[in-house]
Amino acid sequence: MDASPLDEPARILIVDDEKVVRDMLQTFLSLEGFSVRAVDDGSTAIEELQRRTYHVVLSDLKMPNVGGLELLQLISDAHLDVLCIIMTGFGTVETAIEAMKKGAYDYILKPFKPEYVVRTIRRALERQRLEQENFRLKEAISLYKITEAMARSLSLDTILDMVLEATLVEADADVATLVLKNPKTGEFVERTRRYSKNAQTDLNWYGGQSGVGELNLSAIVEQHRQERPLLAHGIRALRFFAEPPKDKRLVSFCSIPLKVQDNVIGMLNAYSYTRGYKFSEGHRRLLQVLASRAAVSIENARLYEELVQSNDELRRANVNLKEHFRATIVGFARALEESDRYTRGHSERVSRYAELIGRKLTLGDMDLEKLRWAALMHDIGKIGIRSEKLNKPGKLSPEEVAMFRTHPAKGKRILEPIPFMEDLIPGAFCHHEAWDGCGYPQGLMGENIPLIGRLVAIADTYDAMTSDRSYRKAMPHDIAMGEIERCSGSQFDDRLVEVFVVAIEEHRKVERSAGREIIR
Ligand SMILES: [Fe+2]
Repeated sequence: MDASPLDEPARILIVDDEKVVRDMLQTFLSLEGFSVRAVDDGSTAIEELQRRTYHVVLSDLKMPNVGGLELLQLISDAHLDVLCIIMTGFGTVETAIEAMKKGAYDYILKPFKPEYVVRTIRRALERQRLEQENFRLKEAISLYKITEAMARSLSLDTILDMVLEATLVEADADVATLVLKNPKTGEFVERTRRYSKNAQTDLNWYGGQSGVGELNLSAIVEQHRQERPLLAHGIRALRFFAEPPKDKRLVSFCSIPLKVQDNVIGMLNAYSYTRGYKFSEGHRRLLQVLASRAAVSIENARLYEELVQSNDELRRANVNLKEHFRATIVGFARALEESDRYTRGHSERVSRYAELIGRKLTLGDMDLEKLRWAALMHDIGKIGIRSEKLNKPGKLSPEEVAMFRTHPAKGKRILEPIPFMEDLIPGAFCHHEAWDGCGYPQGLMGENIPLIGRLVAIADTYDAMTSDRSYRKAMPHDIAMGEIERCSGSQFDDRLVEVFVVAIEEHRKVERSAGREIIR
């Protein structure tokens, strides 16, 4: 309903084929302050009702062409919100009942006194007012529930869905769309749309833009910028379209800006293509309340999504940086080994053996990862030592031994300045410590030696013994294991040696059955 009966004169449409009756009613009702029009049959009446909004129809029952009962049917088919009072000279109870069944509010028997007509109309208007108040109250409650639910959600898609669904239901729209402003480019782009159930069944509407037409977004933005309400019907609405709807005639269009403070962040659009169904000023106000609450929720959800995304990117970048850095250092270590035929592949093998013990100890994934990297980098300090001096056949001189023994401390110095290499330092710095305290560089004893250092020590020694060196040939597996067990409790942590013995045997079994080569 465009206007409340209390705000401005109620609009009455008189439908009667007798000119005398029409004129008499028109004069009398106008004097009573109503805004009155009169037509002479049902078909003209329905056209008039679709063109303008009326509060009450006062219709004769029997007319040529379209009579009163048929008019009632047409009004009901077109979902027109108007109260009908039937006037009949054939005052039988049956016709009256039939008229009421078809949706008439009341009936008046001819001949009537004009005062009686006025009383009936006033009663009808009062009922209409109460119905509307009741309706508005229901709307307000459902709107409140929707906006509460929106405020609780941080998912942008969920909020947009709620807004569109509410627009279809509360304004009885055929189509609802949400256009959002891209914060980076400032461009307005349709983000999502919904069709009412009736519209969905009409396949033409799936033609997307061609079905419902394409909006002239800049004209709409301009209208919103000037803070002018946008509710337009029929041809007048088409100036907000760049491309008019092809298959359907637009009946009514309403667009509401989504504003956060003074910023327009988007718009909510409602379309009606249903013949005779126009959005009212009440609908526009309702959508405005919805849009004002929606805008804040949409903005919050967008900020939240941005935050999550940038946090994610930062985390990924950090992981990448860490991995690249570690890979670079491993690359250096590998280059160093590659230049020396005796140590080629040593770090990778040590890493593998250390991992075997770590798995047997049921270390967690994080600790295993740390152990693998620490073992890969345990000899990184050799970057600072000239290897050709150490790769000579025979024994090293005391000076050469002293130089060799600086590599754990050099490794520590290389890794120390890099924040995310910190946890790998024990592998480089402590892999030559001995369980009995006779190792170097610090001479730590027992469990004072970090676990990673103790693990790498065993893996390092086993691989050194089972591969060729400049001063001797590779030892067979059994001899190397015998040597490790002999040094258990002196050089090595005896419990870790026990674990290594089991782990390496299991590993060899697996490798053998898979047909892979193992150390003799
Ligand atoms: Fe070493």
